[in-house]
Amino acid sequence: MIEIDNLSMSFAIASGRLDVLRGVDLELRDGQTAAIVGPSGSGKTTLLLLLAGLEQPESGTIRIDGIALDSLDDDGLADLRRDRLGIVFQSFHLVPSLTALGNVALPLEIAGADDAEARAGEMLARVGLGDRRDHFPMQLSGGEQQRVAIARALVHSPAVLLADEPTGNLDLETGARIIELLFGLHAETGSTLVLVTHDEAIAGRCQRVLRLHQGRLVEDADRHAIPA
Ligand SMILES: Nc1ncnc2c1ncn2[C@@H]1O[C@H](COP(=O)(O)OP(=O)(O)OP(=O)(O)O)[C@@H](O)[C@H]1O
Ligand SMILES: [Mg+2]
Repeated sequence: MIEIDNLSMSFAIASGRLDVLRGVDLELRDGQTAAIVGPSGSGKTTLLLLLAGLEQPESGTIRIDGIALDSLDDDGLADLRRDRLGIVFQSFHLVPSLTALGNVALPLEIAGADDAEARAGEMLARVGLGDRRDHFPMQLSGGEQQRVAIARALVHSPAVLLADEPTGNLDLETGARIIELLFGLHAETGSTLVLVTHDEAIAGRCQRVLRLHQGRLVEDADRHAIPA
């Protein structure tokens, strides 16, 4: 379960202070799918980075499985990410010195899996990159890098997947395949999925649709009736 309570975040900028999040509340049960939508600059990426413990909020709390992120030190946060979170960043953050296969195998290797390469190879094939496993990130197109990043986030079957516009750089057909993969894995593993998207059709496939508006999350009310 993910619980966000009265979360605020602002940035110091030349002209003063930019309030991005102003009291975000959310309770997401294990296994739920939630879309976060909102215009560019509304704070979606900021919210995901806070959820991943990669940024510190100004105020408010985030709990994942009952553990308050602000009670963890850097090692504790790294353990949490390794054990429970998969993150697809909007800018892919691939390791440039590792091949596609090496990038996808990385979370497994960090966790000490002995079959890291085999599982990474399988996941690369599932995102349609079986024939690109030995390419380095700079030898891959933007959409291919995006798919490597998705494979890396999914390879250790995380309990919680945070994905920031995972289809933003993909053509329609590839994007549709990735969305099927994300929802398919959710159905298979019962993972919790938080999906930032500009695509209303994709958002509509999630059990919850949450809109960032003036720094707060507003839920599409008529969807409450849909069983979670
Ligand atoms: N480190 C920072 N310093 C100052 N301002 C920042 C910083 N990070 C983000 N911002 C500002 O905060 C606002 C929210 O940024 P964020 O990246 O969360 O938006 P977003 O909703 O993800 O947008 P997009 O749809 O374009 O990805 C933006 O106006 C951005 O310029
Ligand atoms: Mg963003």
